Amino acid sequence: MSNVIEISELEKIYGIGRNALHVLNGIDLEIKHGEIVSVVGSSGAGKSTLLHCIGCLDTFQKGSLKINGKELSGFNVEELSGFRNRTMGFIFQSNNLLTEFTALENVMIPLLIRRVSRKKAKLAALDVIDRFGLGERINHKPSEMSGGECQRIAVARAIVGKPTLILADEPTGSLDSKNSEHLIDILFELGRENGTTIVIVSHDPLIAEKTGRTIHIKDGKIC
Ligand SMILES: Nc1ncnc2c1ncn2[C@@H]1O[C@H](COP(=O)(O)OP(=O)(O)O)[C@@H](O)[C@H]1O
Ligand SMILES: [Mg+2]
Repeated sequence: MSNVIEISELEKIYGIGRNALHVLNGIDLEIKHGEIVSVVGSSGAGKSTLLHCIGCLDTFQKGSLKINGKELSGFNVEELSGFRNRTMGFIFQSNNLLTEFTALENVMIPLLIRRVSRKKAKLAALDVIDRFGLGERINHKPSEMSGGECQRIAVARAIVGKPTLILADEPTGSLDSKNSEHLIDILFELGRENGTTIVIVSHDPLIAEKTGRTIHIKDGKIC
């Protein structure tokens, strides 16, 4: 299997001069197509920063990063956002749903951005929402759903476009253990069906146990 992610000698520094904070100190990492990988490490170790670099939500100073064999450093902003929309799905601890839109509309958005027809986008969104057991919530706005339901909708939105790669940063951080396990089980199940690569940062050992590989980060290095 080829690699989705290839990182070599990646270094990320926040600030300059005396205030420089070396957050990633030479990360080498390869992740293959279809792998489900957990990233663990204490608070401040650099997990979110690494995920943001992989997702091109943040820049870095040294080293190289390839996604699907492509070095992204030469892309302009438009090329990058198009590439991100086609290739990646993001899940954060807070659901970041658009509050004015219904659950169904929120899940349709990544497809509509990709210029998929409304009809096709709706069918695909309904299908994924159904897998998360929220078929009866499609016309609800985020304020009319529980935290667990909103997060399931956020995960549905990340996966509806069958991205090559899903990046999840503590996606269950604000959920109780029952909601957390349910969400992760469906995410991994859909990921395996679609052959999606998933990189998930989590403090929860039960989640790490369900992944194929666990990467430990300490002081900006993989150990
Ligand atoms: N935008 C920023 N500016 C300056 N320092 C930052 C910024 N974001 C994160 N950091 C610092 O980088 C280090 C790693 O942060 P982070 O990647 O969020 O860690 P983790 O996700 O493992 O808890 C921390 O010391 C944090 O304070
Ligand atoms: Mg973090």
